[in-house]
Amino acid sequence: MTHRITIEGGGVFDVSAEESTLLRGALRAGVGFPYDCSVGGCGSCRFELISGEMETLWTTAPGLSERDRRRGKRLACQSRPLGDCTIKLRPDDEYRPPIPPRRVSAILRERRAVTADMAEFVFRTDRPADFVAGQYALLQPPGAAGMRAYSMSNLPNAEGEWRFVIRRVPGGRGSNAMFDNVQVGDAVTLDGPYGHAHFRADVPRDVVCIAGGSGIGPIVSVARAAAQDSGPRRLFVFEGARTRADLCFPVLADDARDKVTAYMPVLSAEAEASDWDGARGFVHEEVERAVGEQVESCEFYFAGPPPMIEALQKLLIVQWGVPIARIHFDRFF
Ligand SMILES: Cc1cc2nc3c(=O)[nH]c(=O)nc-3n(C[C@H](O)[C@H](O)[C@H](O)COP(=O)(O)OP(=O)(O)OC[C@H]3O[C@@H](n4cnc5c(N)ncnc54)[C@H](O)[C@@H]3O)c2cc1C
Ligand code: FES
Repeated sequence: MTHRITIEGGGVFDVSAEESTLLRGALRAGVGFPYDCSVGGCGSCRFELISGEMETLWTTAPGLSERDRRRGKRLACQSRPLGDCTIKLRPDDEYRPPIPPRRVSAILRERRAVTADMAEFVFRTDRPADFVAGQYALLQPPGAAGMRAYSMSNLPNAEGEWRFVIRRVPGGRGSNAMFDNVQVGDAVTLDGPYGHAHFRADVPRDVVCIAGGSGIGPIVSVARAAAQDSGPRRLFVFEGARTRADLCFPVLADDARDKVTAYMPVLSAEAEASDWDGARGFVHEEVERAVGEQVESCEFYFAGPPPMIEALQKLLIVQWGVPIARIHFDRFF
């Protein structure tokens, strides 16, 4: 059984009655539905319900303000159609998914500690791992309400291997459930791929990858894709971490190291007394210093916590005037 969704002013698509969210159904139908995080945090997937019935999955999702709610706005990633509906939305072809998301069962094959609070989780699915480097998937941590977004750190492959670098967030329900309640051999639901901060293989510019904390996962994936590419482009990797023990790139991306033009780790809380002689401070400060006049030749990929994303947007867009089309990022809510 399907529900018919009519976009006021033009466009119709069908979603399966089993579909988990309007957003997922729209992307599976090839509709360019604007979105970003898929987990209720950013508000990019706002729309209006004109007629019909939809269930709201997370009623207090932070992606909607009180004003939005009063004006009848909803989040497509937190709405499930219960019948035929008409919605108000401006679709945008930029958001048409390169690969439609699928929902599959994934078995945890391996977990290895990378730092004190981050581990690499290796899952296997029956189907090929179909995604573009830099994208993310939604995983269902057992017992947590809602799915969590985690970015793949490997490259797409026919074997169905999906690698994620997950940080245990103090007090976080989903990430702690991933560490404590998912053992090797257990299955979780994996839904994906999602996201637009993926590697643009057809853009012949130098690649600048910038990771903050657990943002290292998609950055390793993009760096791997750029390293595989035979073009003459240069590849710069910046990694922001608190201390030397929190750096991940050298551990995770051994295979790409010799293709990296320069790897620049930056530490924000390394003890003054340590013998660290690399950069200190915030990662955007090092990007400003090191990229400088070469900005014209670069395409930027970055992922990490919201303050880092905001600092980089300010630097790249406001200060340097880099066109938005050359900037690809995921904000980890
Ligand atoms: C695009 C993207 C990619 C990401 N990639 C990574 C990655 O590679 N590695 C990594 O460690 N982290 C990543 N994150 C962050 C990750 O998704 C989680 O936010 C983080 O693990 C904290 O989750 P938590 O459950 O521990 O914390 P919590 O505070 O319990 O939950 C955090 C998030 O879970 C969702 N959530 C909470 N409650 C509900 C609910 N009732 N219903 C529905 N959703 C709810 C919300 O999005 C919330 O922001 C990514 C985030 C985004 C948006
Ligand atoms: S995509 Fe729905 S709130 Fe971010």
